[in-house]
Amino acid sequence: MSDIIINEVGLRDGLQNQSCPITTDDKQRLFSSLWNSGLRNFEVTSFVHPKAVPQMADAEAVMQFLPDADDAEFTVLVPNRRGYERAVAAGAKAVAVVLTATDTFNRRNIQMSLEQATAVCREIIDAAGGDNIYVRAYVSAACGCPYEGPVSSERVFSLVDAVAQADEISIADTIGCGGPRQISELMTPLVAEYGCEKFNLHLHDTRGLAVANAWAGLQAGVRRFDASIGGLGGCPFAPGAAGNLATEDLVVLLHQCGYSTGIDLEKLLQAIVVAEEIVGHPLGGRSRKWLQQQDLGSCQV
Ligand code: COA
Ligand code: ZN
Repeated sequence: MSDIIINEVGLRDGLQNQSCPITTDDKQRLFSSLWNSGLRNFEVTSFVHPKAVPQMADAEAVMQFLPDADDAEFTVLVPNRRGYERAVAAGAKAVAVVLTATDTFNRRNIQMSLEQATAVCREIIDAAGGDNIYVRAYVSAACGCPYEGPVSSERVFSLVDAVAQADEISIADTIGCGGPRQISELMTPLVAEYGCEKFNLHLHDTRGLAVANAWAGLQAGVRRFDASIGGLGGCPFAPGAAGNLATEDLVVLLHQCGYSTGIDLEKLLQAIVVAEEIVGHPLGGRSRKWLQQQDLGSCQV
């Protein structure tokens, strides 16, 4: 059992914004290389409208190539009831619903007001309880919104309260505008109120602070993090958002600080190469260059 769970979101958050079409076979190739590195938690796709996000149009086909393994958790993002129904029909055992902190961002992203989005999330959480499906609820744009600007901690706390029936809540700095102090001010009271098992942190590296923010989360007691191979990522509905916290950067941070992850860095480097081949441009978090120079077989990073 690893100390920290890393949920690889490259296949969803990472690929959704790529401009070149990516085949299901290529997604499978990327998935296999990530799986070989030891990753067992993935957000694999989203059941959204294919016109809204064409890269996710093969969601049903992606579900077909996932292994049937007891130690794995595969989440799929569902923006609405129709997405949830598609996910269940495709055999999903875990779904992620999305509640964004501002009214404007909800409307741009999923064509719903904040109030409607809250009601839809709660409805899906209820339905999933009956269907024995695990639900993670994203509280997105938790550190700031590209349309409405700053988001207060109180707003985040009240949205967490609204989706508290979910099995897990992912606090997402969707545009990467937060800093370690803000993460600490959000996560310390949340962990104190609901317990650390309840939370995941989803970070983007727009300002180069994702690793510092992960550290602030760790200090606040968070033990689950999203990350994306090579820092792949960005949201089509969040102007200015850069890639996610790179999986390799998070693993380096955690191993260096003595936490186990179950992930083999040498194999993770191979997955970056596969991701680069698929998206057709260079990738890699801050640690990649250094990692490539190491003899990882003998190095204790
Ligand atoms: N998957 C596929 N089709 C869907 C769907 C889904 N999840 N939800 C709705 N549809 C279809 C409806 O069946 C309807 O089809 P019809 O015209 O043939 O009857 C049509 O889309 C319009 O339905 P409506 O409920 O009005 O949807 P919308 O146009 O308001 O779009 C979303 C809402 C949520 C489906 C769309 O905005 C979306 O997919 N957004 C995704 C955003 C995203 O992925 N963001 C990044 C991750 S947070
Ligand atoms: Zn994201």
